[in-house]
Amino acid sequence: MKFIQALQGEPVWPPPVWLMRQAGRYLPEYREVRAQAGDFISLCLNPALAAEVTLQPIRKFGFDAAILFSDILILPMALGQGLRFAEGEGPRLPPLENLSTLRLERAQGIYAPVLETVRRVRAELPEKTALIGFAGGPATVACYMLDGQGGGDFLRTRKLAYEDPGFVEAVLDILTEATIAYLQGQVDAGADCLMLFESWAGIFPATQFRKFVINPNKRIVSALKSRNPGLKIIGFPRLAGLMLAEYVRESGVDAVGLDTVTDIRAAQAACPENTIFQGNLDPLVLRLGGKPMEDATRDLLEAVRGRPHIFNLGHGITPDVAEANVARLMEVIRAA
Ligand code: CP3
Repeated sequence: MKFIQALQGEPVWPPPVWLMRQAGRYLPEYREVRAQAGDFISLCLNPALAAEVTLQPIRKFGFDAAILFSDILILPMALGQGLRFAEGEGPRLPPLENLSTLRLERAQGIYAPVLETVRRVRAELPEKTALIGFAGGPATVACYMLDGQGGGDFLRTRKLAYEDPGFVEAVLDILTEATIAYLQGQVDAGADCLMLFESWAGIFPATQFRKFVINPNKRIVSALKSRNPGLKIIGFPRLAGLMLAEYVRESGVDAVGLDTVTDIRAAQAACPENTIFQGNLDPLVLRLGGKPMEDATRDLLEAVRGRPHIFNLGHGITPDVAEANVARLMEVIRAA
């Protein structure tokens, strides 16, 4: 698996590639299965259909890794918090008031179908294609649990971080434990490596970033690595800015996903010598295609030549991307 070799520090060339949200609405075959499932959560909890949409982009574009089709909010749902996806608006949860709503011991039974998806996908994937299991980082998942919706403001979470830090830390503790068990379940079911999506890491000031982002990520990484020797874990502390290097040093992740704004050369200079990066093409150039996409892709390839790297976007692919642009992107990378 080229993907795992790169994570082990081998400068595989051309670099292995996958795209965040590679299974999704830009694909007509996804929209078809999504309609068949009814709603998004039912799709996530239907192993046959979730496995099918996980495999669709692999068949079409030959990515080096598949990512489990699920969502970071399946875990809080499994812990007992209500969850629905408002059409065209994103997720809605009843903002968490009380820890006693959360039931760690029941979660496993509720997310069991997701682990079954992992088993099915691994059985059907080509041997050379890696399967990425994932969870949300505890801070990011807590943002949705406490505010009840996304958008990036997360005012209630940010206020609670000052006014009732004990409550926030108790939520993070529960999530950290639940995330370790959930990700261990994915490894046992056949995931070849893991990714932690800390998409909202960048909303916290430095002292809170250490407590709420770095510490829980470090606990998750060390628990899973000690139980699974050789397991590789990718962190994605989006918008971490100058906290990126500290995150890499302290969390123990093997590789780090870069968001769109981060200059990869600056990240290379700031992080430990052997850091492996994943990213970070602007999702907008994938939508635009043509010269903007090809120039940006070649620039990025130039910046990572001779190093182990995992080619990806800086954030998820958007539903308005033309498939032909994805196919062309693959040609440009493979011709590098
Ligand atoms: O292909 C893949 O990358 C794997 C599946 C995956 C999804 N969500 C499917 C999805 C993964 C890894 C995620 C992670 C996720 N989910 C994150 C972290 C990454 C990031 O984007 O920052 C976050 C914050 C979420 C929460 C979430 N899920 C939001 C805010 C939304 C609504 C936004 C939107 O695009 O509609 C979702 C819905 C979602 N998750 C969709 C998909 C394919 C769209 C749902 C649909 O088909 O209607």
